[in-house]
Amino acid sequence: MTKQLDLHDIQGNVLKTYARQDFTYARYILFAIKTPAMGRQFVRDLLPLVTTAAPWARPGDDGEKMPKPGATTNIAFSYHGLKRIGLPERSLHSFPEEFSMGMRERGEILGDTGSSAPSYWDAVWNSKDHRVDIWLSINGQTKPALEERYAKIRSILANTNGGVIQLCGHRGENGAENLPFQDAGARRDSKGEPTRKEHFGYVDGISNPFFEGTLTDPSYVTGAGKPTRKSPESPDGWAPLKTGEFILGHRDEAQELPKAPIPRYLSYNGSYLVYRKLHQNVGSFNRYIEEKGKDLPDGSEEVAAKFAGRWRHGAPITSYSTKKEADRFVAEFAAAKKAVAAAANQVARAAAKLEYAKLASKFVGFNYQNDLAGGRCPISAHMRRANPRGALEFGVKGAFETPGALINRRRILRRGLPYGESDESSNDDGNHGIIFMSIGASIERQFEFVQQQWINYGNDFKTANDKDPLVGSHEMVAGKGTGRMIFPAEPGSNKAPYFCSGIPRFVETRGGGYFFLPSLTALRMISEGIVDPS
Ligand code: HEM
Repeated sequence: MTKQLDLHDIQGNVLKTYARQDFTYARYILFAIKTPAMGRQFVRDLLPLVTTAAPWARPGDDGEKMPKPGATTNIAFSYHGLKRIGLPERSLHSFPEEFSMGMRERGEILGDTGSSAPSYWDAVWNSKDHRVDIWLSINGQTKPALEERYAKIRSILANTNGGVIQLCGHRGENGAENLPFQDAGARRDSKGEPTRKEHFGYVDGISNPFFEGTLTDPSYVTGAGKPTRKSPESPDGWAPLKTGEFILGHRDEAQELPKAPIPRYLSYNGSYLVYRKLHQNVGSFNRYIEEKGKDLPDGSEEVAAKFAGRWRHGAPITSYSTKKEADRFVAEFAAAKKAVAAAANQVARAAAKLEYAKLASKFVGFNYQNDLAGGRCPISAHMRRANPRGALEFGVKGAFETPGALINRRRILRRGLPYGESDESSNDDGNHGIIFMSIGASIERQFEFVQQQWINYGNDFKTANDKDPLVGSHEMVAGKGTGRMIFPAEPGSNKAPYFCSGIPRFVETRGGGYFFLPSLTALRMISEGIVDPS
């Protein structure tokens, strides 16, 4: 087992899903560095605001843990930013190629073509005068807390006297084209309460990898770790992933230290961030599932579930194959949650909590071993493509006999949030989608592989060149989509498979970049100009 990580040295967004911890308002701000010395001063002044991965106190905890702040701040650098801030050449040359090239230049690999091409991106990514050097995020528990933090950052920026500038050019509501930041946040219900739904109506952000060295409750390993053989250490067949899959300087699933920039303390406890603004064509999505839903027993909800791998309320379709079963499970789960709140005493609360945890684990704790043909969850469903959970290797003899050996090297930490409003359910236009963020030790091996090979190509799943139905970059020909997907029938069910064709592009890229997320130590080194690779 890897030793406990130094959580005070790792940026908070690497280990924390802020939105799950009540930070439901977010703002992303991009900066360009005009003078290296002012760039370093800016980072130095920001340092006290940077949120670490150290745990926050919960009600009843002793005084050792830090109180939860009203707002968080994290910062990351593009390759151009590291260059502008004065990193020595030798360090710069030690970064991986995909990072130094940047997202825009990797467009062909990522499927950022057609209506996702950079020419359609928000102007902030297309400026001829400035490139994006620094990425900064604020997550607030309330809007005022976010605004207060933003005002503080603006005053730190003002002290650079123009040595660092805030880049404008994010698209916003009502046709706004030149906003100085990108806002995002949980979508709210009619009472203003935050929901976990994205614009197609799915509950999102359910599964995320579980890895060694964090303080996460070990019971969360089921479904979130890596599939493994059952043993006394892994009684239900799940084990934590190695830390080095996500954080540089630690052993990864190949028992190696991931390739990392030099000197060692520049990269140690750091990671890479992929940031993408993904527009959602809500009208096209709703029209398509309505139309195809006419042929299926559970209607449009079934199409939506087969596309994603989960019913829109989150129940996994491989475990609950009809809407009735799925609804019953979700109702039981809601009742179990209420029972915890209503428990009359400690004993009753403990019992209610146990039942709740048992049901909660069913959202994540499953694999596709009993559904290899995809009769329940299609092989091409979005979440099954993005994380096959060992399904590519179950029953296969040879090099990949260990279930998950391949996928364990392709896991990503997802940290996204929706942006914009989409009340107009028949409309594709407007400014609404997901700020998709993924964090991991290798952009090329993890995010790019998933995006290129599993989302936009189907060879590993024996689905020829069929793309992910939900987020694939389906070509549009004469106004009609070219995406295809098969919903296989369950073996022995005597049913016929169902074919979807003409799937349009539901998701389009509107901007993004690759960033290095340094540790707190490395941020200090960068800000002091003392990175010495010799
Ligand atoms: C607008 C774009 C997207 C939408 C609407 C979307 C939607 C979803 C939904 C509904 C789920 C299931 C809920 C959950 O497990 O959290 C999911 C899971 C997932 N998505 Fe996406 N997604 C999008 C983009 C992407 C992209 C670009 C990638 C990767 C390149 C990705 C990777 C994943 C992964 C890894 C999972 C978890 C699968 C698992 O662990 O079982 N998603 N997504």
